Amino acid sequence: MPRLTINGKEHDLELDVRTSLLDALRDHLALTGTKKGCDHGQCGACTVLVNGLRVNSCLTLAVMHEGDAITTIEGLGEPGNLHPMQQSFLEHDGFQCGYCTPGQIMSAVGMLGEAEANWPSHVTDELEGGASLSNAEISERMSGNICRCSAYPNIVDAIRTVAE
Ligand code: FES
Repeated sequence: MPRLTINGKEHDLELDVRTSLLDALRDHLALTGTKKGCDHGQCGACTVLVNGLRVNSCLTLAVMHEGDAITTIEGLGEPGNLHPMQQSFLEHDGFQCGYCTPGQIMSAVGMLGEAEANWPSHVTDELEGGASLSNAEISERMSGNICRCSAYPNIVDAIRTVAE
């Protein structure tokens, strides 16, 4: 226990019930692309997708996610076959030290997927009218992901390019 489905593969893990999803990924499955920054929900470095939605993996217990589809940065793309968001971060220099980058990319992918369900109606109305996300809207939706190098302008450019 538990059986976790990560990047399409099932894993049976022997875990203390208090193990966070982040520690399960990093320490038990060697999926170290997911980073530990603050370990208490403030930096976003540990962002993964659970059933397509953004989750801070440091804030949730692994045992709570049996039956969920968990996606980490390792499941998004691979060298030579990058996800469009990974490619866009590369092309826009959307990083400096790179520590926050996996979380930023997972959050960006999740944010665009969450759009219709969770965004305020004035935003979805604008998008239906053919408008693109503004930089301010992207920044607001990405505010849970901190970049200590302050690469924010390039991060926003990378995300807006994919969103367009
Ligand atoms: Fe999870 Fe910072 S490590 S939010």
